[in-house]
Amino acid sequence: MAFPKNRMRRLRSNPAMRRLVCQTSLSVDDLVYPLFVREGKGLKEPIKSMTDCYHFSPDTIAAEAAEVASLGIPAVLLFGLPGKKDDIGSQAWAEDGVVQRSIKEIKKSSPELLVITDICLCAYTEHGHCGVIKDGKIDNDATCELLAKVALSHAQAGADVVAPSDMMDGRVKYIREALEENGFENVAIMSYAAKYASAFYGPFRDAAESAPSFGDRRTYQMDPVNCDQAMAEIALDIEEGADIVMVKPALAYLDIICRARQRFDCPLAAYNVSGEYMMLNSAADAGLLDREATMLEMLTAIKRAGADIIITYFAKEAAKQL
Ligand code: PBG
Repeated sequence: MAFPKNRMRRLRSNPAMRRLVCQTSLSVDDLVYPLFVREGKGLKEPIKSMTDCYHFSPDTIAAEAAEVASLGIPAVLLFGLPGKKDDIGSQAWAEDGVVQRSIKEIKKSSPELLVITDICLCAYTEHGHCGVIKDGKIDNDATCELLAKVALSHAQAGADVVAPSDMMDGRVKYIREALEENGFENVAIMSYAAKYASAFYGPFRDAAESAPSFGDRRTYQMDPVNCDQAMAEIALDIEEGADIVMVKPALAYLDIICRARQRFDCPLAAYNVSGEYMMLNSAADAGLLDREATMLEMLTAIKRAGADIIITYFAKEAAKQL
């Protein structure tokens, strides 16, 4: 139907009409809020590279988690900064590690809040790589064994969901087996299935003190030029036992989210990463963008592309707006 029979503006003519034809609605139910916990006591230290984000300690994390829960946000994603690092990242699976203690504190005070934990070694190793190093290279299978230990220790502490972010091959299989063998068959795996070697992680690496001391992450994270590989990565992770798959980053990878949505039936998460968060914050601080409106537009775009779950540092602010 051509003009003037068809006038697209009729469908935009007033707020009620716009509500009626609205195809994408962002909800607080979609959000996951990342939290950083470090060794120490009584901490709530602002993270310099990330506006309104803090380093908590295991004794202060529960209060923050309770606030997140009170906003109606269903889940937090925990990142740990250990007291000491070593070659293999052994604090990552320590029974009394920062994340393990934090999970227990959160579960005690906010049992209804889902606790998702990041499973990776980069914040725990002296060299800052996501795996163990043998002859100058990241050893895939040896890393998977350690990641399974980390996931199991988080499950033992009470985590609901474990989220491997390392990009080793086969790690979902190792983790799924370890969980099954030890009676944690109900712990879900949210795999960072299509995680790209992205420059958008910069502010996070300051926050998590996890920048690699040599080289980069291109031998394990995906090359940003590729898209078919992302589908292969996701298919493999589902096959190995992932319950939720993730595309990361989100905004520069909306095409990947869209393709994954069309192809796979399982819940799809997208990580609105630190660089995306700080681009908006910096532009808003400079008076160039309206922070709230732009935030909601960004999150809506991620949802419209096909994500069911959005992991974002904006979660608390968005929850207040929605
Ligand atoms: C650790 C990890 C990273 C992020 C989440 N988990 C950094 C990296 O891979 O270097 C980035 C999150 C963000 O930028 O917000 N493997």
